[in-house]
Amino acid sequence: MVCLGNICRSPLAEGIMKARAAEAGLPWTVDSAGTGYWHTGELPDRRSIQVGRKYGIDITDQRARQFQPDDFDRFDRIFVMDVNNRRDVLILAKNEEHRSKVSLILDETHPGKDRSVPDPYYDDNGFETVYEMLDEACRRFIASSGY
Ligand code: 4NP
Repeated sequence: MVCLGNICRSPLAEGIMKARAAEAGLPWTVDSAGTGYWHTGELPDRRSIQVGRKYGIDITDQRARQFQPDDFDRFDRIFVMDVNNRRDVLILAKNEEHRSKVSLILDETHPGKDRSVPDPYYDDNGFETVYEMLDEACRRFIASSGY
């Protein structure tokens, strides 16, 4: 799960996908990262922590890190939150296999629409919407994953 800062959207996406995978009995490794380095080592944004907590998802064990080129080899799928994240991740891809792992998380709910999860950093009210978008996308991904 990749966003810009790895403090708002992708930590929630990580927490939600971990919870939904666990419910489905899937032993997946789920992680998150930011394309930027500014927040490295920080806790998720308190507003993401709050909305996660509201739905029973604790993300306080997470610390921000920057996306690394070896993440392409460490993970089977790389979900990006928005089209800028997609551009920044694809710049680091070395081959077609890497590129093929990258997709917008909202392609799970709105295939082919190039839809982005809005950056809620400057919008206190945006976190609830982000949660709902991510939860639906994670549920759809798991339902369609064939496991
Ligand atoms: P995120 O949100 O990419 O969802 O973690 C942001 C967090 C921090 C900043 C921008 C977006 N920032 O500019 O510091």
